Amino acid sequence: MYITVIGCGYVGLVTASGLADTGHCVTAVDHDAEKIDLLRNREIPIHEPGLKELVEKNLASQRLIFTDKLKEAVGRSQIIFIAVGTPSMPDGKADISQVESAVREIAVNMNGYKVIVNKSTVPVGTGRRVREIIGEEKRVKFDVVSNPEFLREGSAVKDFFHPDRIIIGTESGKAVNVMKEVYNLFLKKKTPFLWTDLETAELIKYTANAFLAMKISFINEIANLCEAVGADVKAVAEGIGLDHRIGSYFLLPGPGYGGSCFPKDTRALIEIARNKGERLSLVETVVESNERQKRRMVEKIKRALGDPRGKILGVLGITFKANTDDLRESPAIPIITELLLCGAEIRLHDPVAMKKAEMIFSASVHYCSDEYEAITGADALVVMTEWNSYLRLDFDRVKKIMRNPIIIDLRNIYDPSTLKKHGFTYVGVGRF
Ligand code: UGA
Repeated sequence: MYITVIGCGYVGLVTASGLADTGHCVTAVDHDAEKIDLLRNREIPIHEPGLKELVEKNLASQRLIFTDKLKEAVGRSQIIFIAVGTPSMPDGKADISQVESAVREIAVNMNGYKVIVNKSTVPVGTGRRVREIIGEEKRVKFDVVSNPEFLREGSAVKDFFHPDRIIIGTESGKAVNVMKEVYNLFLKKKTPFLWTDLETAELIKYTANAFLAMKISFINEIANLCEAVGADVKAVAEGIGLDHRIGSYFLLPGPGYGGSCFPKDTRALIEIARNKGERLSLVETVVESNERQKRRMVEKIKRALGDPRGKILGVLGITFKANTDDLRESPAIPIITELLLCGAEIRLHDPVAMKKAEMIFSASVHYCSDEYEAITGADALVVMTEWNSYLRLDFDRVKKIMRNPIIIDLRNIYDPSTLKKHGFTYVGVGRF
């Protein structure tokens, strides 16, 4: 099938190259001509494991092409995926202007029946709005589908090929048949499919993200309670996770969730409900709890370190989670900012995001080329992100080069008793 994917961000890029790999001819479009040039030269603008190989393979087979010219792409495709950003507005609502402008551009360039598939996370009712916009512009036949995305940054390629489920929202039988052809391979692999109406599909996406955010905030609060009563959150999480009704995933406490999705989507869901006169008090509490968790991490560091003024902190990791170079809403950013305001000196290392970190902290932070440089002379080591490389530190060496042997592990990646045996003071989240 001939498919267009609009937007070469992490969802668009993975969707385009993934669909090409399943045998379709995909044109990936982005307004950003510079990005298109990079991609044509096989350079991937984001850090995403496996994506470079996937793009290269499908460029070579000519099933994937990149362009900044939407008109030709729309002309030759029957299916057009929209995968553009829907960032937060100051009031928390999702800004769908990029979706609307993509739809207008599609509308003026339509030359026959098309299926417009929305992959962007959009407020409930956007699919119908898309239908109105195209209807105003064109008389040709078309259908609108909501096909929300559940990829995680850092494992997006794997998630594309092995999804837990595929959600398709549409009321058109013709569009259902087209989507079955698009996802033919996944139907054959017996991936679970759920066929719904537009609004339900749109709401499933927000509900999934809000539920996962709630699970994280819940375990973060339980971790805080563990600290107060002397319990071990790792064992508590394991103990509840063995109950199939609860499940063991997404029960890792930490400095608070971040990224381009949970913070934005929880806020947007609250606004979607408010708009309809409903109140999602649980989700509101999750958002507040997540903000509190970040502040609590600063207090934790101060308690372990004493007055931060003049102290040196070796900070490991700045991305919102491992295996990505994304810093959007990373909890490390407000935590480091607060510590700098308190007079601490920060020596930072991250395996992939140093350039991006420099754009945020410029000269206020010392940028280090490896973990050991960051830790040298430090009064405490703070783990902000759970990068695998930080697991393999030589702790005898670490102890020798630090000024004070304090490890503040905001991701609970280390075993407390091993570190204590090495002579460190260990501070985790909800464990001792
Ligand atoms: C999330 C969802 O997991 C995806 O299903 C969804 O497609 C995506 O948002 C989206 O809407 O586009 P992502 O933001 O890439 O994916 O990352 P997650 O792995 O979900 O992690 C989000 C945040 O929660 C990170 O800061 C992570 O460190 C934190 N987290 C996650 C925890 O603190 N504890 C956990 O147990 C799990």
